[in-house]
Amino acid sequence: MNSMDGRDLVRSVKVVGSARAAQGLRTVRSAWRRRRTDAVALPPRGAERARVPGQVHGVEPGPGGGLIRFARSELQITVDVNGAVFWGWDGAGPEPSYALAGHCPEPDPRAVLEPDKDGGWRVVAERVTVVVSRHGAIEVCTPGGVTLRREMPPRWWEPVGGGMARWMQRSEVAADARFFGLGGRASGPRLRDGTYRLWNTDPGRAFAPGDDPLYITMPVQLVVADAATHLVFHDTTWDGTVTLQEGEEGAGSGHDRAGRCEVRVDGGPLRCWVMVGTPARVLRAWALLTGAPALPPAWALGHQHARWGFGSVQEVRRIVVGYRERELPLDAVHLDIDHYDAHQVFTVDREHFPNLPALAEELRRDGIRLVSIIDPAVKEQPGNAVYDSGTAVDAFVRDASENVVRGVVWPGQSVFPDFTHARVRKWWGGLYEERLAQGFAGFWHDMNEPTSFNAFGESTLPRSARHSLEGVGGDHREAHNVYALCMAGAAYEGLRELSPQVRPFLFSRSGWAGMQRYGGAWSGDVATGWPGLRASLSLVMGLGLCGVPYSGPDVGGFDGSPSPELFLRWFQLAAYLPLFRTHACLRAGRREPWEFGAEVLEHARVALVERRRLLPYFMTLAHLARRTGAPYVRPVWWGAPEDRTLRDCEDVFLLGDSLLVAPVLDPGADRRAVLLPRGRWYDTETERGYEGPGQVLVDTPLSRIPVLARAGAVIPVRGADGGVELEVWAPARGRTGGGLVVPDAGDGWNEPEIERYVARWEGRRVMVRREGEDGAGVPPYPVRIRGLG
Ligand code: GLC
Repeated sequence: MNSMDGRDLVRSVKVVGSARAAQGLRTVRSAWRRRRTDAVALPPRGAERARVPGQVHGVEPGPGGGLIRFARSELQITVDVNGAVFWGWDGAGPEPSYALAGHCPEPDPRAVLEPDKDGGWRVVAERVTVVVSRHGAIEVCTPGGVTLRREMPPRWWEPVGGGMARWMQRSEVAADARFFGLGGRASGPRLRDGTYRLWNTDPGRAFAPGDDPLYITMPVQLVVADAATHLVFHDTTWDGTVTLQEGEEGAGSGHDRAGRCEVRVDGGPLRCWVMVGTPARVLRAWALLTGAPALPPAWALGHQHARWGFGSVQEVRRIVVGYRERELPLDAVHLDIDHYDAHQVFTVDREHFPNLPALAEELRRDGIRLVSIIDPAVKEQPGNAVYDSGTAVDAFVRDASENVVRGVVWPGQSVFPDFTHARVRKWWGGLYEERLAQGFAGFWHDMNEPTSFNAFGESTLPRSARHSLEGVGGDHREAHNVYALCMAGAAYEGLRELSPQVRPFLFSRSGWAGMQRYGGAWSGDVATGWPGLRASLSLVMGLGLCGVPYSGPDVGGFDGSPSPELFLRWFQLAAYLPLFRTHACLRAGRREPWEFGAEVLEHARVALVERRRLLPYFMTLAHLARRTGAPYVRPVWWGAPEDRTLRDCEDVFLLGDSLLVAPVLDPGADRRAVLLPRGRWYDTETERGYEGPGQVLVDTPLSRIPVLARAGAVIPVRGADGGVELEVWAPARGRTGGGLVVPDAGDGWNEPEIERYVARWEGRRVMVRREGEDGAGVPPYPVRIRGLG
């Protein structure tokens, strides 16, 4: 095995040192080739002509809305049965779209196009009114008539000699509005003034707040304002930017300054979806459109340990024994590229990992699953089975001259499957058979922006590289952002065929709108440091608000060695995030919880044990995400978006409806301020009650981060015997509470029923009943009431 290939590629320093000359030279050549290819195949755009829609001159009402004709464009507007609004310019319809889960929902027959004042038109629907001015400005209003978003008439620039137009769309939102989303952003979750690029990017080094863009970008904004929340999705996969500027409310007699948003895109249709309502309603409509989030298996809601450079099966065993001997819960081990033969995907280094199926079986008996990294790049090497079978089905991306595009990734010179072709997806999906035979139960997609190391310029494929794009044909400018989404689709469908009884489990570094229907995400190579810890929370919250509820960071950060305190605080935070995994780079310091001294080990144990205890709650949240689109990790304003103080709070989050988590994000903190939404909240450790809304100071000794439970919450937890128990936090006097429970129904496709519980005071006792068709019943689980003190 030539294990030095990838190791020699120091991605953080993309410069060639003498020891790395061979690999480095290939990298430089590849960058140079990439630029030359683009220079030939993508000539400069030349002169352009600008265009705006012009004046309205006719309409054609249709189901759910209609067509409005302007002098130089036309606009289709449709409200669908879920209340989502679609509009498309220049004949753009909602399909085809990589974001949509299937066919676009039916139009709402009750929504009608009618004349508005000043020669404009409007579509009035149950939850939203859309007003179109005679020049093509579009206003999205609440049923009460408050404007949530005003899109100015768009502007196109068309090459005089023909070709794809670029376009720009400016809009205004309320002065009090806050922006969230745009995929996984390191400096959120609140997106402050700045320009955010829409181009999935491996930053080439461990990232921290301020690094933008990262691996997952999406033209999806969630805008939260006093009047309502709305989600807006500009459905184009092309490179572009979104420039945001928060508004400001005028003091005294001053005027309000509206919030501003400018979307500029290099091509693709100008079409848009908007959903209006509460955050929960908006995310539900988004999931109806782009797909229900895949349900992870129960083990993937536990603790997972990864490492680049286990190096051998003995080291994997050593780690597993380390967890077992210290009685630390562990649910999965992830094998990185060092278990491949010469870093080639879908192979095994049999010298160091001689019998993976036996290892997998042995671990499974202890309740631990094996997860495999999967990189898309295939080593260009005749005789390598993956390369040969891919070549046989013409799977690899070609350039405009029909030559296969080469890049450099961990295995050396590599080629890239074109996942935008159904035949290629089918072939790729079939390759997972080898992984299943090795005993892997889950898949970690990496390097799929896609990344190719290039010494200069962008670390991806040439923009002129050709893609099938489902037979329509196009180039990498259009396919880049959906490369990982299509790879996830290929794996998901392949696994479903190969193992129909088991739900596929995968998570991915890159992706796009709709990726949740295939799996989750992880935060990529986050820098070890306190800013990295903060960034990792920002990514999870941002992705959740874009419809991807399952994600998490590398605990401890990817590079370097965290201090014991930083490692512990990261560990404590991640214990409350959907994907809870430790991972680090080849040369980074160790990340096993026992490597940081006895004190950290004890506190990490508490976090691990608590995570395991909360497993039934996590399972319930996973089911609810699947059925409603609501992320497990929610901003603290989720239930009260009109509360402006909450809207600006970024360092506290809700885990489902019942828990509020206040991670420690700064060194040396022995207490922290916690902002509480309305209602009574109990500190789950001391059982002390606090009244919200307001801010309280809570102690944060190294042993814990504050977690508060909502009064009245009914939380399913794992009891000492492994069965489910209901932990109930006393409702405030005179009030009731409740909660949902969705039991784990195994790794198959069963859809268990949602159980609803109500908690109320009956005399001097808190009673919990199950709501059912035949009235209230006794819960089938033991019940423990807390917060009575
Ligand atoms: C990328 C991944 C990282 C992985 C490494 C080697 O940097 O983000 O998680 O360990 O590649 O496969």
